[in-house]
Amino acid sequence: MRMVDLIAKKRDGEELTTEEINFIIEGYTKDEIPDYQVSALAMAIYFKDMTERERADLTMAIVNSGDTIDLSAIEGVKVDKHSTGGVGDTTTLVLAPLVAALDIPVAKMSGRGLGHTGGTIDKLEAIAGFHVEIDKEEFVQLVNKDKIAVIGQSGNLTPADKKLYALRDVTATVDSIPLIASSIMSKKIAAGSDAIVLDVKTGAGAFMKTVEDAKELAHAMVSIGNNVGRKTMAVISDMSQPLGFAIGNALEVKEAIDTLQGKGPKDLEELCLALGRQMVYLANKASSLEEAEEMLKEVIHNGKALQKFKDFITNQGGDASVVDHPEKLPQAAYLIEVPALESGVVAEIVADEIGTAAMLLGAGRATKESTIDLAVGLMLNKKVGDPVKAGESLVTIHSNRENVKEVIQMIYENIRIADHAEPPVLIYEIVTE
Ligand code: URA
Ligand code: CA
Repeated sequence: MRMVDLIAKKRDGEELTTEEINFIIEGYTKDEIPDYQVSALAMAIYFKDMTERERADLTMAIVNSGDTIDLSAIEGVKVDKHSTGGVGDTTTLVLAPLVAALDIPVAKMSGRGLGHTGGTIDKLEAIAGFHVEIDKEEFVQLVNKDKIAVIGQSGNLTPADKKLYALRDVTATVDSIPLIASSIMSKKIAAGSDAIVLDVKTGAGAFMKTVEDAKELAHAMVSIGNNVGRKTMAVISDMSQPLGFAIGNALEVKEAIDTLQGKGPKDLEELCLALGRQMVYLANKASSLEEAEEMLKEVIHNGKALQKFKDFITNQGGDASVVDHPEKLPQAAYLIEVPALESGVVAEIVADEIGTAAMLLGAGRATKESTIDLAVGLMLNKKVGDPVKAGESLVTIHSNRENVKEVIQMIYENIRIADHAEPPVLIYEIVTE
């Protein structure tokens, strides 16, 4: 097999065989096929697309380029949730204990945040003592005992994806549905769960800016998952404005606690229920999505979900008393209000820019090496569609420095007030096949 022939084949719009795709990914991972040939192939895929079969094969070739996590020692159907990334997205913190409270194993591998999006591990580390540096045996043991554990990313997972993604980044081939879908799904599949629930975000704060693109990506990923034997569903949700009120690590832990008690922000709660019911259904614990939703509401109502969050914190070395005493979470030194300059209705809160404002305060990382301040962040006092009077606070800044002029300016530039506005649609589509 010669790489040049395979590039020509894809350039001419033909379908690559399973063997050809494996040859390319294996050769590239071993540095036997050079970047320039893979660049040309990526561009051909960008223009000529891939069939569902090719996409599934590409995904599995990337999975097989490195280690995979074996979760077979964990009893039950393991369901993982993945978000394509957003601002103030506190859903994992809520969903993990919520679903585990229904005896569904949550064996979560998580990462840290970068840029305007936060990471689950950073948020959990806002709880004193909490750590994710546990070994594989302890991880499995915790999930079997209490149905929930979170571990940091480790091992040599999907090395082909790391090389490909870096190459695509500099060859204008990131924005290709088959390449994005196989990249994301390969990482989820290598992480070992039996079923996958995807939260595909759309809007300013999301990777997919339009609803049409988000739908195409969601359908592509669901199809890959189901074609390679992992039951997969997706929700397409709004990320034009941040999710919930809190953006920042300790602030989001508090918001998750509120939501587990049934008193969280409406949008966060609705999205958690939409994703959670798919997880419960895919774990074979309910015979319909409606029944699954009732089960989730029940464990919020009877306190089991909150208790599960406490057990989870204790198991991983954290101080679970923060659940009843959230004032024990890291607190910022200064609370600074940002008053509305005019009366009207909030028409826009630009998610990525507001996420960047929180990052500038220290809540997120500008680069992988940055250190973060777990106490700081932003609390939205208004969401899109809310009426506001001049002088009322739009946002409360939680800061550890007194001078936050540039943050205030960014907030004003990215919250628009108009005469009329409606709240955005939160869930655009539920993708079940
Ligand atoms: N996120 C990924 O993990 N891969 C892509 O290709 C794009 C976004
Ligand atoms: Ca939030």
